[in-house]
Amino acid sequence: MSVQPSCPADPPGGGDGVNLRTLQRKRERGEPITMVTAFDCPSARLADAAGIDCILVGDSLGMVVLGYPSTLSVTMEEMLHHARAVRRGARSALLCGDMPFMSYQASPAQAVENAGRFLKEGGMETVKLEGGRSRADTVQAIVGAGIPVMGHIGLTPQSVHALGGYRVQGRDRASAGRLLDDALALEDAGCFALVLEAVPARLAGYITSRLAIPTIGIGAGAGVSGQVLVLHDLLGFGGLSPRFVKRYADLESLMLRALETYREEVASGVFPGPEHAYEMPDQEWEAFLEGRRGDAAGAPRSWGRVRGR
Ligand code: KIV
Repeated sequence: MSVQPSCPADPPGGGDGVNLRTLQRKRERGEPITMVTAFDCPSARLADAAGIDCILVGDSLGMVVLGYPSTLSVTMEEMLHHARAVRRGARSALLCGDMPFMSYQASPAQAVENAGRFLKEGGMETVKLEGGRSRADTVQAIVGAGIPVMGHIGLTPQSVHALGGYRVQGRDRASAGRLLDDALALEDAGCFALVLEAVPARLAGYITSRLAIPTIGIGAGAGVSGQVLVLHDLLGFGGLSPRFVKRYADLESLMLRALETYREEVASGVFPGPEHAYEMPDQEWEAFLEGRRGDAAGAPRSWGRVRGR
């Protein structure tokens, strides 16, 4: 256990760092916005130290960290638990909580209540939800409560069954038109930014050119206002490798090698060395042994005595 906590107990929040105006300014200046997911305090601390603009506590949590087969099982309680950890690690990045499946679909009132929990209980500053025009009322209700909303269209994993799998969206003229209409409707409803996932690059660029708010692409090419990747995917720590992921590290191999070496060193007695052990002053040790003189010398207790039988 490390003696010094590496994550602050009470980091600042509430607008000292990146905010909606920062993202909008970047979009206007053509400076790419950077966003990654994080699910715990040390990852958030690292993303923040790397100067990432926006940290998303994504519902990809379910697949990447919790081992679910899809994002559909993720609950509000799980999201809030991880959001709080991310809040404790981040100092400057804008924080966005991803609303899990069935936390906003039932009614705008349900959506406002759960979006509010992300801010009140999770320490997030914004929320994200999936869906196009059919979510416009929901977005309006949340924004009306003073909570900034990021939209998410294209491949929306919470609709995996309706979409017939994890497939690129907007490849034909009809579905491209629907995506554009969705994007415009979400902007009109008050979204401050829009994630475009698995959309042909030229369509994503066109949608971006038709909007005043930033677009954040994942598998949407370079013509968008910014990029988002799942942290574990880009670091090569589990995660998935769809075409749009670039692996910037191979943490899985590094971690496996480290764990194998640890196991070998414990098994062979190399670890722990004297440098990993704590000293006890000779005087105290001798006094301790003196006090134990009457004990049955060196005899280990039997299993029965240990268990009090
Ligand atoms: O949950 C998530 O990680 C996401 C990103 C892929 C945008 O929604």
